[in-house]
Amino acid sequence: MKKIMLVFGTRPEAIKMCPLVNELKTRKGIQTLVCVTGQHRQMLDQVLTTFNVVPDYDLGIMKHGQTLFDITMCILEKIKEILEAEHPDVVLVHGDTSSTFVTALACFYLQIPVGHVEAGLRTYNIHSPYPEEFNRQAVGIVSKYNFAPTALAAQHLIQEGKDPSTIYITGNTVIDAMQHTVKDDYRHEELDWVGDGKLIFITAHRRENLGEPMHQMFRAIRRVLNEHPECKAVYPIHMNPVVREAAVAELGDCDQIHIIEPIEVFDCHNFEARCHLCLTDSGGIQEECPSYGRPVLVMRDTTERPEGVDAGTLRLVGTSEEVIYKNFKELLDDDEAYKKMSGACNPYGDGHACKRIADILEFGIYEPWAAK
Ligand code: UD1
Ligand code: UDP
Repeated sequence: MKKIMLVFGTRPEAIKMCPLVNELKTRKGIQTLVCVTGQHRQMLDQVLTTFNVVPDYDLGIMKHGQTLFDITMCILEKIKEILEAEHPDVVLVHGDTSSTFVTALACFYLQIPVGHVEAGLRTYNIHSPYPEEFNRQAVGIVSKYNFAPTALAAQHLIQEGKDPSTIYITGNTVIDAMQHTVKDDYRHEELDWVGDGKLIFITAHRRENLGEPMHQMFRAIRRVLNEHPECKAVYPIHMNPVVREAAVAELGDCDQIHIIEPIEVFDCHNFEARCHLCLTDSGGIQEECPSYGRPVLVMRDTTERPEGVDAGTLRLVGTSEEVIYKNFKELLDDDEAYKKMSGACNPYGDGHACKRIADILEFGIYEPWAAK
């Protein structure tokens, strides 16, 4: 029997790894172990509860206002003895967080094979997103299994010289997570508040956007809302205190915005599916909204998800107040521009990524996913 350990620590990793945990647990030939770093405490636990995943190990590393040094040193120190004791056949990590990078580094030091889920996303700008572009490239150096969500991601790895026999195109596991979340009869008090108005869905958290860029993002949103009383914005705020300070300073007294605590992923998908448009700097939301045909203004200078831009659902608008203001206004004032961005498409997967990854790990059987 193969022993496979999944290690993750933040909300988005958990959303994309829990469906895989649950798939692997159904496999007779696999013993599944889960180790969480606890990089996010509350936001991680919320997802674990949703998916009924109980970790075998919890490093519990989160500190308020943690630095990259804190995260790196705490994980490296605490994970060593767990990896040494369990010595898994494969450790699976996800994406590009510090939990991901440090776990892969620890595995490399102990010569434990790493499988990288959501491999091959790139901006090739090491400063954006920061530090994620470094993290995912670094994991790519050591990983033995590379589960690329799209053909483009696989192509990046091939261009970088990875052995093609280690690269598998699986689709993104986030699409698996979305299969059962959106319901026609879904109700929520915030949606009742929006009523017949236009729901504007907002999230923001990127490290490189903290400070002035984030203030500019929020000022632009506020200006547009002031000019459009038909819009009501719901903003489930990230728990980072720096984000909270900026949001309260710029948006706190605006009647058209409800800033609420992080919502469950089930709620988040239902909000996304019903919004008029979304403004975000999130990675995962760029993958989810295209399925619902909801236009997304991506408040970043780069994206590692160009598939959604090519499909027309995502528009990269940077972080300057004037540019966000202009693009947000355009989508409210110009029906044609709005329609152009609002066709549903699914460039990131078909909902069977977890099964593909499990088949590869259990039987060595690989049937690639191809976008239609
Ligand atoms: C992290 C990841 C980023 C990912 C994001 C998803 C790194 C370096 N960054 O960024 O790649 O896109 O998660 O959201 O790995 N906090 C809480 N409770 C929580 C979560 C966070 O209080 O459940 C607060 C803490 O004060 C913490 C701060 O938020 O110190 C920042 O968390 P951290 O994980 O360092 O950075 P994120 O911006 O969340
Ligand atoms: N999400 C959630 N509750 C929230 C905000 C986001 O469940 O209040 C989900 C969202 O659906 C997506 C993921 O969290 O799946 C995105 O996480 P985040 O933006 O924190 O990180 P990123 O994807 O940018 O790494």
